[in-house]
Amino acid sequence: MILPLSITGKTQIYGIIGYPIAHTFSPPLQNAAFQAIQIDAAYLPFEVHPKKLKAAIAGIKSLQIRGINVTVPHKVHVVPFLDEVTPTAQRIGAVNTILNNHGRLIGTNTDGQGFIRSLSELPFTPQDKTIVILGAGGSTRSIVVALAEANAKQIFLVNRTIAKAKHLVEEFSPVFPQTQLRAEQIENLYSLPIDLFVNTTSVGMEGDKSPADLNQFKILHYVADIIYTPQQTALLKQAKQLNIPFINGLGMLLYQGCEAFEFWTQQSAPTALMKTTLMKLLN
Ligand code: ATR
Repeated sequence: MILPLSITGKTQIYGIIGYPIAHTFSPPLQNAAFQAIQIDAAYLPFEVHPKKLKAAIAGIKSLQIRGINVTVPHKVHVVPFLDEVTPTAQRIGAVNTILNNHGRLIGTNTDGQGFIRSLSELPFTPQDKTIVILGAGGSTRSIVVALAEANAKQIFLVNRTIAKAKHLVEEFSPVFPQTQLRAEQIENLYSLPIDLFVNTTSVGMEGDKSPADLNQFKILHYVADIIYTPQQTALLKQAKQLNIPFINGLGMLLYQGCEAFEFWTQQSAPTALMKTTLMKLLN
């Protein structure tokens, strides 16, 4: 943790905006990283009411804040206030990281790439793979874009409200011709060989409910849940029971932060230290 006493007139300021913001893990995570590689910077939480978002973004420029993370509920609404948005963030339609490059605000989105990086712990690479994703919300968008950019062969979208999954397929199919996207009922997928099953819904955060019965799949190689509290959801407990390698959402949380750090500093993030910091915060 950076000591306020070490902040000087030269210290560069970073931070995170959200509403509410009190529960964020990002300040200790990023401050540990800055301190570890001796960058003179401090990272702070900023609670920004949705009505004050435009003013807050203008404030990044006027206060010469060097970098900002953006979290719920601002990720989509922030886009029009930026000077430039990376192609990945444009496709996702949401920004979670802003770099203030000498007065020009450049937005990117590290959520999907963070997810891909977390898969390497399985280990899993998306290229030429068949993947089932449960959910069709904001997290799904970032994960679909990242998996398709990594040349996944097939992505099946399953969602309680099937129309939302179909809408995503219509939007992304022309953008990613190399990846076959389809909205499906889960029952139609049980007999296909599936490389990776991903839960992006909130089912499993509370209680011991699982969003799917993994036992129904004939062939399923890996499971990922983006939930990190609890660290082992009912879905992951079943994966464990079935001897299917799995990851929870901690990796995505960690690596989206590492990717943001690298976008700002152009230096490799101290991932091991950031991981230890995150684990300490959670335990
Ligand atoms: P996020 O930004 O985290 O993706 P979101 O945009 O609110 O959150 O998306 C939540 C996803 O979880 C949706 O796909 C939602 O399904 P619907 O589109 O049908 O609403 C899914 N979800 C939430 N609660 C659910 C439940 N009890 N059963 C099944 N799906 C659920």
